[in-house]
Amino acid sequence: MKTILITGGAGFIGSHVVRRFVKKYPDYKIVNLDNLTYAGNLANLRDIENEPNYEFVKADITAGELMKALFKKYRFDGVIHLAAESHVDRSISSPMEFIYANILGTVNLLNAARVIWEDYTDKRFYHISTDEVYGSLGATGFFYEDTAYDPRSPYSASKASSDHLVRAYNHTYGLPTVISNCSNNYGPFQFPEKLIPLAIHNIKNNKLVPVYGKGENIRDWLYVEDHANAIDLIYHEGKIAETYNIGGHNEWKNIDLIQLLCEIMDRKLKRSAGTSANLITYVKDRAGHDLRYAIDSAKIQRELAWKPSLQFAEGLEKTVEWYLANEEWMKNVTTGDYQKYYDKQYTKR
Ligand code: NAD
Ligand code: DAU
Repeated sequence: MKTILITGGAGFIGSHVVRRFVKKYPDYKIVNLDNLTYAGNLANLRDIENEPNYEFVKADITAGELMKALFKKYRFDGVIHLAAESHVDRSISSPMEFIYANILGTVNLLNAARVIWEDYTDKRFYHISTDEVYGSLGATGFFYEDTAYDPRSPYSASKASSDHLVRAYNHTYGLPTVISNCSNNYGPFQFPEKLIPLAIHNIKNNKLVPVYGKGENIRDWLYVEDHANAIDLIYHEGKIAETYNIGGHNEWKNIDLIQLLCEIMDRKLKRSAGTSANLITYVKDRAGHDLRYAIDSAKIQRELAWKPSLQFAEGLEKTVEWYLANEEWMKNVTTGDYQKYYDKQYTKR
């Protein structure tokens, strides 16, 4: 039986990856390591938590010696590393947390693998990264695997740094690593600080829907299960030392996305047309706001036969249905300091 370490498995994307691996690979033992920050939530994994091939370990990847001890104890055959601080706005207000979790945390895992793995045959260290490392595009063009790095927020700079360290461990020590850089994910279990679940939550509760700047920034959206599928393929079939870009070829201007979401919400909540759109409020722009991200995913499509399965309108509809059907989940993650934090940060333009 192979033992695979998945870090950050209690978060948004990690929980989809853990669920997929636990269900699809009964011959793997899946160890989910997460320190349960505000974004980590074991309720995301209720349906699989009692499966015999699943184990949760609460631990912080910034603890280097602990990582080595866990590598010794579990004798991991592979690592899929997702644990990170992931929200750009928080990286602007609290950059140091991103440096510790994303850079120090990654190097601790690399070091544990380097020191504890006796030989690297059949081992694999897979690092999950973001398209934001490539910087910001103008009106045209795409990010390719060989696009020069140009990170511009503390979040993207910390992820770029972790990518460089992963490549350095491959080049210097021969550690068998692979990296993927993905565009914006959406779907069930995403913490309502990111645009789509935040807007759904606010519309449902008749609160303002904050659109940064003029709403003209563009993101390339991918349904989270399609990302989990790509991660599965890359973990099993991706080439060592390679990088794969993952994206939906699905670019949306923020304001157009929010308008579409408002239409869906009006329909689902049986409100008259235009009710949700009345909540749209233009607020002060994000500092250093990247204009446009767009991924060229030809390599993974060509080499690993991956492609996105869902059209955006369908995925968004499915996502809205999930949040409306899971009110209890939303209530639990929006208690405590949540509302104070999110009400406070908006200044109308
Ligand atoms: P998330 O914030 O929902 O989840 C992150 C998880 O990591 C949480 O469960 C959290 O508790 C855990 N974590 C954070 N710091 C930790 C630490 N020090 N020790 C142990 N666990 C820790 O994030 P997400 O959106 O699911 O993103 C997962 C990964 O995918 C991240 O590496 C992110 O950079 C990358 N990514 C995200 C997107 C996206 O659109 N969300 C796109 C591309 C890449
Ligand atoms: O591109 C991949 C990245 O996508 C991931 O690496 C990050 O972890 C993930 O958080 C995401 O980053 P973004 O900054 O693009 O996502 P966010 O949902 O925060 O914002 C999407 C766009 O919407 C962005 O242009 C900012 C804007 N926005 C966001 C929020 C939260 C608003 O206009 N209003 C908002 O309230």
